[in-house]
Amino acid sequence: MDITDLKKQFIALYGGDETGLRVFFCPGRVNLIGEHTDYNGGMVFPCALSFGTYLVIRPSGLPALRFASTNFDFKATVELDAITEKLPGGAWVNYPLGVINELLAAGLNPSGQDLLYAGNIPNGAGLSSSASIEVLTAYAFNELYGLGLDRIELVKASQRAENRFVGVNCGIMDQFAVGLGRKDAAIRLKCDTLEYELVPVVLGDYRLIIANTNKRRGLADSKYNERRGECDRAVEELSKAGRIEFLCELSVAEFEKRQHLISSDVIRARARHAVSENERVKVAVQELKAGNLKAFGALMNASHDSLRDDYEVTGIELDTLVAEARKIDGVIGSRMTGAGFGGCTVSLIHKDAIADFKEKVAANYTAATGLVPDFYVAEIGDGAKEILS
Ligand code: GLA
Repeated sequence: MDITDLKKQFIALYGGDETGLRVFFCPGRVNLIGEHTDYNGGMVFPCALSFGTYLVIRPSGLPALRFASTNFDFKATVELDAITEKLPGGAWVNYPLGVINELLAAGLNPSGQDLLYAGNIPNGAGLSSSASIEVLTAYAFNELYGLGLDRIELVKASQRAENRFVGVNCGIMDQFAVGLGRKDAAIRLKCDTLEYELVPVVLGDYRLIIANTNKRRGLADSKYNERRGECDRAVEELSKAGRIEFLCELSVAEFEKRQHLISSDVIRARARHAVSENERVKVAVQELKAGNLKAFGALMNASHDSLRDDYEVTGIELDTLVAEARKIDGVIGSRMTGAGFGGCTVSLIHKDAIADFKEKVAANYTAATGLVPDFYVAEIGDGAKEILS
């Protein structure tokens, strides 16, 4: 992102000069393993990316917040005495507005500001462009108004904004990853306690390549909420043998002992995914720490297969990208990442195989689906920060 150019765009839009401008950044994320475990009280293992969302902001002296983005045409002026209301048809503006609302409870008393957002995360690709804009806003307002919240509080406020204001019942993983990520590390996060550890991602000659299905994620949010409901039902039925709060409290062995309590095969399969995925994350982190990349890749493969067969959140696009990726010599693991139903895959690949991967996977994916994929070699970057020039 060219910050000088972004500041120029800000001035072209709102007037004035560079005096008083501040610039903040928050990344997107890719999850390496641990999918649909966060709201089941389990483990995840995401990392922040080097691309993300930028915010240029300056006090305006007006009794309003003015929102604009270089990514969307929609702009909004929200009077300070109307910030608690969701903007009808407000699209992306409801993400920052939701966060500002959560910060009111933490003592924020906002004054007029002009804001210009600019992101280079592919939109709707499941790389957490929404968490990025949320945590970016939380981080910036915390700094500007000296609210004194720590990163975990900012992350929680951002998740609440998405749950309550935007209306997507997401877990904590995405906001946590973009808020607390660190360059060249992944975060092993236990989502019920928020106990976490930064684990260095040392890949030697291997790289992480992200492949975007470029499928529109039409029903993703409703399907996501449906899966959450299925997990709640499984918790209820499994609790007949002793109360549990979350599926991931059970080990695979404990789950196997209790699984007969679940009356439906579909619900049992959903629960089996959450429980087995949670154990895969624990093993995968150990393997990565020990430098066993092939074993880590095998667990990525098993994760995808479980998401495909037991959790049923993949679909033809993700499954094709993964199947084609696994055919490439030099790929040692490939899986969907994020919520599923479209979005992206992540593959662990020898650096010398990247060109071959891009060519063959693209050709075969397009032949099977009619869609053209995009590829990004992932660089693991830092979480939210101010850009000081
Ligand atoms: C989305 C949600 C996360 C998480 C993943 C699936 O990205 O926002 O909270 O549930 O899906 O692992």
